[in-house]
Amino acid sequence: MQNQMGSGISLIGVGAATPPAALDNGQMERLVDTSDDWIKTRTGIRERRIAGADSTLTGLGTAAARNALEMAGVSAADLDLIILATSTPDDLFGSAAAIQGQLGASQAVSFDLTAACSGFLFGLVTAAQYIRTGVYKRVLLIGADVLSRWVDWSDRRTCILFGDGAGAVVLEASEQDQLLGFEMRSNGAGNCVLNLNYQSEEKELLPGINVSQGGYQTISMNGKEVYKFAVRKVPEVIEKAMFYSDIAANDVDWLVLHQANLRIVEAAAQRLKFPLDKCLVNLERHGNTSAASIPLVLNEAVRDGRIQPGHVIAASGFGAGLSWGAAGFRWGKG
Ligand code: COA
Repeated sequence: MQNQMGSGISLIGVGAATPPAALDNGQMERLVDTSDDWIKTRTGIRERRIAGADSTLTGLGTAAARNALEMAGVSAADLDLIILATSTPDDLFGSAAAIQGQLGASQAVSFDLTAACSGFLFGLVTAAQYIRTGVYKRVLLIGADVLSRWVDWSDRRTCILFGDGAGAVVLEASEQDQLLGFEMRSNGAGNCVLNLNYQSEEKELLPGINVSQGGYQTISMNGKEVYKFAVRKVPEVIEKAMFYSDIAANDVDWLVLHQANLRIVEAAAQRLKFPLDKCLVNLERHGNTSAASIPLVLNEAVRDGRIQPGHVIAASGFGAGLSWGAAGFRWGKG
């Protein structure tokens, strides 16, 4: 379908980067009162990559971006826009511009987008709007997170879930529109179930004039509520996105869910009547990498040839906010 407003959109390159150090469930047993069996049964996770003190969000994002640009055959100097989806920037003012600097993308404008584990999906839709209106032709979208910085490593209910990484895609204007349809949602009423909050600490500057000089806490989560939210809302939003994409479940080659928990993937696949072998899963090796999880698994499947040009993908991100969304797209140049 040719977009009436302007150009169509193609996804023409994908890349990823993860820190070298792995932390497996056996090592997790030495940190908290847990077991490999409990973690595998409840989540499907076996190990996760952890960024050490020498690994930065900017470095991971830049490495993933270089991979994606190389596959796309696009030079950084030709990028018009860089969107970094992250909740864990190196710099609270944003890390997109630092990545832009490292890439040498001198003609681009860059900014961060925060939507937790929905960040990549929301970033994809955001990037698409700039291309569809004809404003920009080439956009780099990076999803990257280092949640290990913000995990309470003594809380067995959360620390077993998360890992670090970065993934990126390159989008380009094209005649054929490969982004078929999407739906995005959020619900502030559920905000309290998954947070990484700033905690205020009052400091008196002058008599009667106080400022707040606190810091960020660690991740707090009501796992049961998040689980219930995901298994209810993810299939619903995928159905909506498929409706807007004018595709049925059997038109979809691959279901790509945010990699939070294998049981969530299985429950969503069952509700949507998708065979499990059509679901891309790599969470057993990476855990939940938040905004990085969709491009990380996409990258693996494109590079090992499971995803072929023209394949139809239904992708869904979900998480804190609460936020959730889904998109239907064809892989490759349109
Ligand atoms: N190892 C061993 N036992 C653990 C444990 C761990 N790592 N974490 C919790 N438990 C214990 C609990 O203390 C509880 O024990 P109790 O019954 O004696 O109180 C028991 O296991 C059951 O805990 P519960 O929280 O009910 O487990 P669950 O079946 O809901 O599974 C999650 C917990 C976190 C795996 C699950 O709720 C989940 O995946 N939720 C979604 C989280 C998510 O994906 N968040 C990110 C979204 S982007």
